[in-house]
Amino acid sequence: MTNQDNIDQWSKVPNHIIAEFGDEGDFSRQHLLNPQLFRLLGNVSGKKVLDAGSGNGYLSRKLAKMGATMTGIEPAQTLFEYAIQQELSQPLGISYLQQDLSQFQAKGQYDTVVSNMVFMDIPDYQSAIKKCTEALKPGGLFVFSITHPCFENSSDEFLAGGHIKITEYFQPYAKTMTFGDNYHRTLSEYVNFILQHSCQINEIVEPKLDSAITPDQKDHHIPSFLMLSATKSPS
Ligand SMILES: C[S@@+](CC[C@H](N)C(=O)[O-])C[C@H]1O[C@@H](n2cnc3c(N)ncnc32)[C@H](O)[C@@H]1O
Repeated sequence: MTNQDNIDQWSKVPNHIIAEFGDEGDFSRQHLLNPQLFRLLGNVSGKKVLDAGSGNGYLSRKLAKMGATMTGIEPAQTLFEYAIQQELSQPLGISYLQQDLSQFQAKGQYDTVVSNMVFMDIPDYQSAIKKCTEALKPGGLFVFSITHPCFENSSDEFLAGGHIKITEYFQPYAKTMTFGDNYHRTLSEYVNFILQHSCQINEIVEPKLDSAITPDQKDHHIPSFLMLSATKSPS
């Protein structure tokens, strides 16, 4: 699959699903990803922030309301159109670009780049990550989340049996999802690629579900997501 093949699949997300996702995102975003993203991003007020793979734009809208000057990149047609429509009906000064992140050209322009659950959906993920690091100003902040590379696609299995089974980790593979393919790569591939591209790692987060949130589920025991915060070297 090429990047464009996968973007074509994402372009089939129907409007009712996009609208249901709303301004807060799904359960995982509300309870696992958003709180950690906002902590890692810190105070965004007055910052120029790139939301790489912005989907329906919920994160761009949240960060714009916190005072960031937002640009969202989203290549898939219906998601891009929804984000534009939201901006037209309630302007927050967000610029959306309909573009493949791997083709994005912006050198040293952003204080912060955030990419929420995107790189495992891009066949040519290395170009996409490289474009993100290039888009940062020296000393800029790069925060991203992905499906945890060690425990992918295991929620149903955990619910059914209370455990998960990993049979192959080293071999890259693609899994067909409802919209587009998901790509498995090892944890070290992601981490080493970041380190090789002028970034120093600040923190790695494996979000754990608050025990007050019931019923018992996988994310109380095994992380579904991996988040990484890195700083681009100052020179
Ligand atoms: C799981 S969704 C996450 C969307 C959004 N960041 C969020 O958290 O709701 C993955 C997103 O990656 C986008 N995507 C897929 N291929 C891409 C590419 N080559 N460049 C940029 N975005 C891409 C999809 O269109 C989709 O919006």
